[in-house]
Amino acid sequence: MTNAKKILISGVKPTGRPHIGNYFGAMKQFVDLQDEYDARIFIADYHAITTVQNAEQLSRHTIDMALDYLAIGIDPAKTLLFKQSDIPEVCELGWIFNCITTMPFLMRAHAYKDAEAKNKEINVGIFDYPILMAADILVQNADVVPVGQDQKQHVEYARDIAEKFNRTFGDTFKLPNALIYENVKTVVGTDGQKMSKSYGNTIPLFATDDEIQKAVMGIPTNSQGIAEPKDPDTDNIFAFHKLFADEKEISEIEKRYREGGLGYKESKDILIANMKRFIAPLREKREAFAKDEEMIRNILKENGKKARELAHQKMEEVRKAVGIA
Ligand code: ADP
Ligand code: TRP
Repeated sequence: MTNAKKILISGVKPTGRPHIGNYFGAMKQFVDLQDEYDARIFIADYHAITTVQNAEQLSRHTIDMALDYLAIGIDPAKTLLFKQSDIPEVCELGWIFNCITTMPFLMRAHAYKDAEAKNKEINVGIFDYPILMAADILVQNADVVPVGQDQKQHVEYARDIAEKFNRTFGDTFKLPNALIYENVKTVVGTDGQKMSKSYGNTIPLFATDDEIQKAVMGIPTNSQGIAEPKDPDTDNIFAFHKLFADEKEISEIEKRYREGGLGYKESKDILIANMKRFIAPLREKREAFAKDEEMIRNILKENGKKARELAHQKMEEVRKAVGIA
């Protein structure tokens, strides 16, 4: 087993349509890395219950998320694709982690602090979110966790919790590392803030041509005229060009920005054409997979069993270490 592949784990919550920030920040990595790693990707349905509290919606979103994963190219022959709730042991492990974690430590989490700052009603699940996430990662004995920049802190929490457990109960867990696409980090939304479902500034990954058109046309621009030189480094539309154009086109657009002569209308038209070209085949693949939901359910069921078996071994070790074997 010396040349065994390193273990990769990640998940996304089934809370609605994924957007291009989810894709370029996190999901694309899942596809790019599935050959190199022992890849395990899941649908974080337990985490989704912090906000989605309607059975019909949650099960619909779960199947939708499986379709999204398959459409972007996650290959079930290479990646173990499963539903988080098929490993109920993560809740058991989460409880054990709760008992070795302090409240002030969890109160330092960005997600919690943001919710607090916005005076949101915070359920215990949201407060405890990083604990369950640590359980997802550590129960799989993961080496790496591909995520977007905003989830980096959560992976660091998993690392810290693993260290605390090892100090308390003896060496049990590996310390996982976050993988982040340095050239992407945070994808901005149509309003210039971080693209996020909660800000209403997203471009859906499987957007229709009309939605693409509308979203891009809605990106605010300043009053600079066509001939004026523009700074690509601070331009919202240019940030999207970097995701959807090839290198040659990016440098051509950049040159025209700096020299002047490229107006916002033309820049948006180029972006719309490139986005449509990129998204159309993804949308078509998704429609094709959607014709066979039975197949999707079977994949999830079979893989859920396998993922649970993998977690089982680690849990045996944990129970023994804690004294509840
Ligand atoms: P949202 O903020 O839209 O609710 P999620 O929290 O469901 O997104 O994030 C799912 C994954 O996508 C995570 O790994 C997260 O880091 C990544 N992600 C979300 N938004 C962005 C963004 N704007 N840029 C880069 N990655 C992102
Ligand atoms: N917190 C992640 C998100 O908001 C989802 C998630 C849950 C996750 N458990 C995980 C990601 C474990 C990586 C590893 O998108």
